[in-house]
Amino acid sequence: MNSADISEATRQFWNMWPCDGQSSYERRAKLRYTKEPFILHHLRQVTAAHNHIVEVGCGQGTDALTACQYLESGATYTGIDASDQSIASARKAAEERAAHLNIQPDFQEGDALALPFADDSLDCVYSMGVLHHVSDTERAVAEVHRVLKPGSTCYIFLYRTASPKLIVAYMLRAIQAVCDVLSGRQRSLLRVIEKRSFEGALGTMLAEAFGVPVMRSYSGRGIKRLFSRFGQVDMLACGFNWPFDAAYKRANPSGRNAIGNFYYIKATK
Ligand SMILES: C[S@@+](CC[C@H](N)C(=O)[O-])C[C@H]1O[C@@H](n2cnc3c(N)ncnc32)[C@H](O)[C@@H]1O
Repeated sequence: MNSADISEATRQFWNMWPCDGQSSYERRAKLRYTKEPFILHHLRQVTAAHNHIVEVGCGQGTDALTACQYLESGATYTGIDASDQSIASARKAAEERAAHLNIQPDFQEGDALALPFADDSLDCVYSMGVLHHVSDTERAVAEVHRVLKPGSTCYIFLYRTASPKLIVAYMLRAIQAVCDVLSGRQRSLLRVIEKRSFEGALGTMLAEAFGVPVMRSYSGRGIKRLFSRFGQVDMLACGFNWPFDAAYKRANPSGRNAIGNFYYIKATK
């Protein structure tokens, strides 16, 4: 598949499986922040430091709506996403939650590989779990660099290679490849889970493992290479908590963990 075909397949996948699933904003926010409370900690810091934020790959707007509760009036928040279904769902959630938000987010369809912003124009870019799914991650990072003002900062979560989630996801993909050969069908296990709903407990994790067209992950060295055009780059391995270990989560708000599923990258242009 060429890059345009991959982008279209990716858009179709997220239209079918908008991130975290769930038609109700409350349910998907509860699922996400129970599973990954460290996101709230980082969003609090980003919104404390910046008043004008663009989110690349906002999905159904879950983090956007949280940010719009933290930001003060006068701030702006723009979320862009390639999936029109996700954007429609984010707009609906923002309308329904308007009374709880300090500012109203703006959601637009858009492509991380061709961001709809001028060079050197943005104060802050945030992106959670997106750029490892695009057809060309290096180009997407170059786009983030292009649109940031000199001295401005992006905050980006990318998958960490040697982490439990990625190891399991790659194993599931390998098992599916064998099942595909044996059954003569493509994405045979995705078809099986389509018929059942694991959404309440797992969100779209299984669908992503079996069906998302691109799923890259990075080592620390890979992150340094990917962000080499930035001046200052800091990264934190974070985001692996045993599902029900609330005490561990409380004691470790940043989610720091040497075997974390993500690298949280703070990079300044
Ligand atoms: C794992 S979801 C994360 C969504 C959101 N950040 C969140 O955490 O809920 C990945 C998102 O990336 C979006 N996406 C994938 N490729 C994209 C691209 N080239 N441009 C913009 N968004 C893209 C998908 O539509 C999807 O909503």
